Amino acid sequence: MKKQFRGLVLLGTLLTAMGSQAQTATMKMEHYGDSLSVLKIESSTQYLLLPVQEPNMNGGAGMRFMRPAQVKLYTGNPMDTFLDVSLMTDKTDYYVPLKLNKGKESYVEFKNVPANSKAWDLMKLSDTFDTTNTDYYRPIFHHSPAYGWMNDANGLVYKDGEYHLYFQYNPMGSRWGNMTWGHSVSKDMIHWEHLDPAIWRDSMGHIFSGSSVVDKDNTAGFGAGAIIAFYTSSGRLGQVQCLAYSNDNGRTFQKYDKNPVLTPFDGLKNFRDPKVFWYEPAQKWYMIVSADKEMRFYSSSNLKEWEYLSGWGKGYGVQPNQFECPDFFQLPVNGNEKNKKWVMIVNVNPGCIWGGSGTEYFVGDFDGKEFKCDSEPEVAKWLDWGKDHYATVTFSNTGDRVIAVPWMSNWQYANQTPTLQYRSSNSIPRELKLFTQNGKTYVSADLIPEAAMLKKETETLKKVNTQTVYDVFGGKEGAYQIEMDITPGNGEQAGFTLSNALGEKTLIYLDMKENKLVMDRNQSGKVDFSKDFPLATSAPLELCKGKTHHLNVLVDINSVEIFMDGGRIVMTNLIFPNKPYDKIQFMGAKSKFANVKVSKVGL
Ligand code: FRU
Repeated sequence: MKKQFRGLVLLGTLLTAMGSQAQTATMKMEHYGDSLSVLKIESSTQYLLLPVQEPNMNGGAGMRFMRPAQVKLYTGNPMDTFLDVSLMTDKTDYYVPLKLNKGKESYVEFKNVPANSKAWDLMKLSDTFDTTNTDYYRPIFHHSPAYGWMNDANGLVYKDGEYHLYFQYNPMGSRWGNMTWGHSVSKDMIHWEHLDPAIWRDSMGHIFSGSSVVDKDNTAGFGAGAIIAFYTSSGRLGQVQCLAYSNDNGRTFQKYDKNPVLTPFDGLKNFRDPKVFWYEPAQKWYMIVSADKEMRFYSSSNLKEWEYLSGWGKGYGVQPNQFECPDFFQLPVNGNEKNKKWVMIVNVNPGCIWGGSGTEYFVGDFDGKEFKCDSEPEVAKWLDWGKDHYATVTFSNTGDRVIAVPWMSNWQYANQTPTLQYRSSNSIPRELKLFTQNGKTYVSADLIPEAAMLKKETETLKKVNTQTVYDVFGGKEGAYQIEMDITPGNGEQAGFTLSNALGEKTLIYLDMKENKLVMDRNQSGKVDFSKDFPLATSAPLELCKGKTHHLNVLVDINSVEIFMDGGRIVMTNLIFPNKPYDKIQFMGAKSKFANVKVSKVGL
């Protein structure tokens, strides 16, 4: 093996925690050809900062060949694995941190980095990693990761006054990869605090989506009150279900040493996203796993050994599709505790009516073994009628409340949205309820009442007309809420246009010819980063009652969420205007607009 030494690199003097003694961290590299390089760091700082260049995802002539570098801090632990990092080749888009053995020696191994790569000279030792936002399109009041890529919310659990939002996270870049459970906590589901990642990718595989429960009675033997997380390990063993437990309120997790706890009996390749819940009538834990184009039920007394019960869902909903991220819960119909129904959430990709990924649900009964859906297989009901609503799952341990958190993006373009330092956000959580309409049972998804604390100041617009262009209160900052009651005129398009001085706009209206609610983002701002982005989404007004409709619209720097008639219709779409929309103009000359309120919104 050709060995090449690169000498010493000195990166300044770093003060110890005591502030009195000076310590110097040094780096020394050894290259074993182009295939392996080892960086030895003495008196390590907290982090090695790695310069990243995002791969060009748009294809075409300019597409760079990118084989990501692989980086690993050597600890001798067989669970450690190489992480994929798109190290820069000709320009640096941002840095990502690799945690070192602070104060001690660290050996960092690199694969796929040529000895003459410019990246070597740009690596930095540091005790801090700056997560200051550098993206214009960073939501003002929605949850997004401090830096790096995020997809599905997973492992959502409430315990001791805290809501834990774990999420599919890449701590080493702003594109999908290195799946790890990121972690944020909140006391109110509105203000989130970023914590360290909770469960890291390991040598068994990526840590895919799943769920968490609080084991109050210590059924698993990891301690009463432990938070037990179930995730799919996707890698060496295929897709298998694993367990990890936390005895420090969800901050850190120990992976169970006998993982996996569940493998597919038929060798299925797509077998993932375990949802675990306590099923009171059987006094057992249940697990649902998405198994290609169906969901599979299992039960267990100790959370470690699982018995197969049944499969459900083949041929149900939009076809063909891939089932992902199940959820399952019981709710009273129209608030009647004596009439409860079970709801099966099925996230499908592809299959969304607008292309890409979306959330379907099915209402029915469960006898402890099998789920029976009330509707015919071809009936697909949508939890949200927009295009940026996926992997929706609910919190466990919230008593009678069923609170869902979607990821606000779509797999068709999630990796291409115009941000760099971070990618993707979650919608404001939604409270789910069951209502009946025309003899059928549906799920409504309304803003959680806690969202009221977002409103800072409200302005009422009296006697609005369609001729005037009004300033949006709070519009300059790009974060506001618009509420109104609309009584649409016959055959009209009744609603409003949000716009900015650049002529960019998003239209929201009830189309009374087609009897639907429409959100049109064709000219909303930046739309051409993906051919799948520009479009108008719509929802059938048959889901609503009466002639007057209540619209509650939440606008953030890069998203619009419509909650209509208490969440009977919900529509979530991303937008990327080059300036916030600060004007509103109403449409529908014969339509009536009452109780029009615009509120400045913020944390
Ligand atoms: C859904 C999904 C899951 C999987 C995860 C991987 O968006 O594909 O099925 O667990 O993302 O990040």
